[in-house]
Amino acid sequence: MAIALKTPSEIEKMRRSGAILRQVHQAVSAAVRPGATTMDLERVAEATIDKLGATAAFKGYNNYPACLCTSVNHEVIHGIPSAKKVLQSGDIVSVDCGVIVEGYYSDAAETYAVGQPSAEVQRLLDVTKASLERAIQAVHVGATVGDIGATVQELCEGEGYGVVRDFVGHGIGKNMHEDPQVPNFGRRGKGTKLRVGMVLAIEPMINAGSADVKVLQDGWTAVTVDGSMSAHFEHTVAVTKDGPLVLTR
Ligand code: MF3
Ligand code: CO
Repeated sequence: MAIALKTPSEIEKMRRSGAILRQVHQAVSAAVRPGATTMDLERVAEATIDKLGATAAFKGYNNYPACLCTSVNHEVIHGIPSAKKVLQSGDIVSVDCGVIVEGYYSDAAETYAVGQPSAEVQRLLDVTKASLERAIQAVHVGATVGDIGATVQELCEGEGYGVVRDFVGHGIGKNMHEDPQVPNFGRRGKGTKLRVGMVLAIEPMINAGSADVKVLQDGWTAVTVDGSMSAHFEHTVAVTKDGPLVLTR
């Protein structure tokens, strides 16, 4: 499929979408604490999306049942919010959300520590977040999708972590998933060349142990095969002539 390049006015709409999505994330983050359930987080997201006049992007997508993905500890992505899932101190929870505003999608994820994280878990969060930031810095006209993947891969594998290969980032715009795919691994100089007007969801999914993941019987929840903790951070990023423009800050 051809890559849909966005005009400046489309990128403005996507910026408004991303700004609303950030407010949803802020509201959810304030609700993360020991004793909260992942369904509590879903309710906060639902109410905030509604209050801000946006539409939840995930709910109903391939029959996904919620506004949020809430993935706890060894869950990598696509954890389904549940009133039975109670967050405890020492847990981590990855919160992924997308919204549609003025016809344009934005997509972002954060991983939070619940209560007091171990030093080991904090390092996983710090490195995964740093890999996203470094990948964003690699975004400029003439760079490639391979440069983004290599940036994440080199940092995270260098720290001894597993880079998930079964799920990847993506182009985004009038659809949640557009070309090109944006893997978190790759080789510098390879893959699609970045051009002005491309908008990419860059989303490292990093395991403390092996990169291997499997999907549970619910058809959604992806977990690490070795049971190790997993972190996920995501931003929606436009390629401009001046470099990366993060739409979901
Ligand atoms: N951020 C995820 C993605 O890029 C969210 C999809 S969850 C779904 O695919 F339920 F909407 F599929
Ligand atoms: Co995404």
